[in-house]
Amino acid sequence: SSEKYKEPFRPQFHFSPEKKWMNDPNGMVFYKGIYHLFYQYYPDDIVWGPMHWGHATSTDLIHWAHKKIALFPDKLGMIFSGSAVVDLNNTSGLGTTENPPMIAIFTYHDMAGEKAGRTDYQTQGLAYSLDEGETWLKYEKNPIVKNSVLKDFRDPKVFWNTETNLWNMVLVAGDHAQFYTSENLINWKFESEFGKKVGAHGGVWECPDIFKLKVAGSKEEKWVLLISINPGAPNGGSGTQYFVGDFDGKSFKTTQKDIKWIDNGTDNYAGVTYNNTPDYKRIFLGWMSNWLYARNTPTKNWRSAMTLPRELSLVKINSSYVLKNSPIESFKKQLVSEFSKDLLSIKPQQKINFTYDNFNQSEIKFKAASKNLKLIFSNEVNDSLVLNYDAAQKTFSIDRRHSGIVNFEENFGKEIHTTATPSIISKTIDYQIILDWSSIEIFLNGGVYGFTEQIFPNKPYTKLSIQSDEKQEIKNLTVHRIKGIW
Ligand code: FRU
Repeated sequence: SSEKYKEPFRPQFHFSPEKKWMNDPNGMVFYKGIYHLFYQYYPDDIVWGPMHWGHATSTDLIHWAHKKIALFPDKLGMIFSGSAVVDLNNTSGLGTTENPPMIAIFTYHDMAGEKAGRTDYQTQGLAYSLDEGETWLKYEKNPIVKNSVLKDFRDPKVFWNTETNLWNMVLVAGDHAQFYTSENLINWKFESEFGKKVGAHGGVWECPDIFKLKVAGSKEEKWVLLISINPGAPNGGSGTQYFVGDFDGKSFKTTQKDIKWIDNGTDNYAGVTYNNTPDYKRIFLGWMSNWLYARNTPTKNWRSAMTLPRELSLVKINSSYVLKNSPIESFKKQLVSEFSKDLLSIKPQQKINFTYDNFNQSEIKFKAASKNLKLIFSNEVNDSLVLNYDAAQKTFSIDRRHSGIVNFEENFGKEIHTTATPSIISKTIDYQIILDWSSIEIFLNGGVYGFTEQIFPNKPYTKLSIQSDEKQEIKNLTVHRIKGIW
């Protein structure tokens, strides 16, 4: 409710940095009631530059406090993406068991080495905090993992493996992931690699994560490996694929043949999950942008935001594992009821229109028959954002070509299509649509299909037109305003 954070396109309920450039979420760890979020940060400009780790904290993953920069570049390089843990047993010896160190493991990117034509310029470094993340010290003997492969060797995700009682690290090395183990977070043993021959390879592999999930409605447990790639996503540029399989602490195996994507939109990249969350929930945050145009978006004193915090879960649909993601349960407390309709019967060619002062800070939910359906958000300056479900083609598309400012980069104003697999061809489809000042997130069937897109409307959308060229039934339509967080 302050005057701050009211600039054009400033997200009102998503995390964004106070000012300047942000990319990947880093070091996500929960400790003593506090969710820490670190992020790739360049404090001197709104384009990418020498990377730091910015820092923010939250008690509910929704309201955030900006903290001072945690990690600065040093003589070993810039601070690229990585993760954080709490070393409760002081295995590293960098703290005490009474005051366990918080430990960040990240990639050093040595610009000078890169310029000089060397190929070993990415290494893994360690930093620790003895005051619960407030201030950070670099480990004296960095780097802790030297580069033995070529060029791309980065984005370590570290976690305590309760099955093996060892630390695990997964990082990416160009076209594959590598797994390591450690007893003390400092000395790492290479165990195995994964992925050279499976998955999408349209670009370099980045930002891995691995975790175990229960398969809903069964006793089965599976490990999920997230791998971001850039370029090579289905809609161009950056995207995040996942593999479902088994992990024994040393190697990851899967029988998965097809390529699976965590999001069908253009703007959910480099997403990873929290370590140590209460109730063992798997909470995910992605960077809500795409390297195709991340540097060009029309914001002024900051750039980009994170997705809503989402809970990941695993379901089996037609004998295939699907990673679901939907906003965390407590996001509901941000919702203020505006209006609802129990039943809307749409005749062929009929358009049902709703007006509301600001759809760009709202949640729209309903259940529709699995038939053609078109939703158009628009405003008085003729911006329009079109969502379309084509029942015959079984595709869902988002057309942002006329959604507002789109001409800052040629790839931005494209229509995004996704082909639904049989899971969505249920009799009905649940729609959950969440709009902020510069984003739309769509969750179909509870997050079996997710779509995340940036949009830059010249004015808030004030009209929603729901239409179909066939007889349609919309049930339990609700529109909620979403409270701002700043
Ligand atoms: C992903 C990425 C990471 C790297 C970081 C640099 O967006 O390219 O692989 O660590 O950004 O900022």
